[in-house]
Amino acid sequence: KRIAIFASGSGSNAQKIMEHFKYSDDAEVALVLSNNPEAYVLQRADNFEIPSHVFDRNDFYQTDEVVSLLKRLEIDLVVLAGFLWLVPSNLLSAFPNKIINIHPSLLPKHGGKGMYGDRVHKAVLAAGDDEHGITIHFVNENFDEGEIIYQGRFRVEKGDTLEILKFNGQQLEHLHYPKVIEGLIKKYN
Ligand code: GRF
Repeated sequence: KRIAIFASGSGSNAQKIMEHFKYSDDAEVALVLSNNPEAYVLQRADNFEIPSHVFDRNDFYQTDEVVSLLKRLEIDLVVLAGFLWLVPSNLLSAFPNKIINIHPSLLPKHGGKGMYGDRVHKAVLAAGDDEHGITIHFVNENFDEGEIIYQGRFRVEKGDTLEILKFNGQQLEHLHYPKVIEGLIKKYN
């Protein structure tokens, strides 16, 4: 099976996924896509000798370019990993139940437009939540909605800082995202 990863930034999750499937018999990362030509994820893709593609708003929302590329490369699963743009309906309908996302909170808490990065962890601290975590879910036409596939949680301790919450969340993401993807791929086989 063939995986495409969409990312807008650093791509530490993409890195873990590329590592995980590098020697897999079941799946490979066939393409990395980004809306941001400066995204470090593109360098990471290069390091794995995985092709990448950069697109702009017009390509993504006004044309079928991205969908055609994914179809041409026979992509089976689309993985969003720190991708900040809403997925347009032509892409959703071309890959029904085959697009997943990861979010650094226990959705439906602390999700939605503008809730990404440090803002999520700040919101958790401001709300005084006693637990926090990550969510992996199918993607629909709204930000951070769609059926939940997996949630990982941890306790928020008294005195925890934004950095601690971020670190704990990242550890969970890096551990579980590749495994959840592998689980889905096995179902498709
Ligand atoms: C992750 O926290 C993910 O949950 C969110 O964006 C972040 C991406 O980080 N959607 P990275 O680019 O994978 O390091």
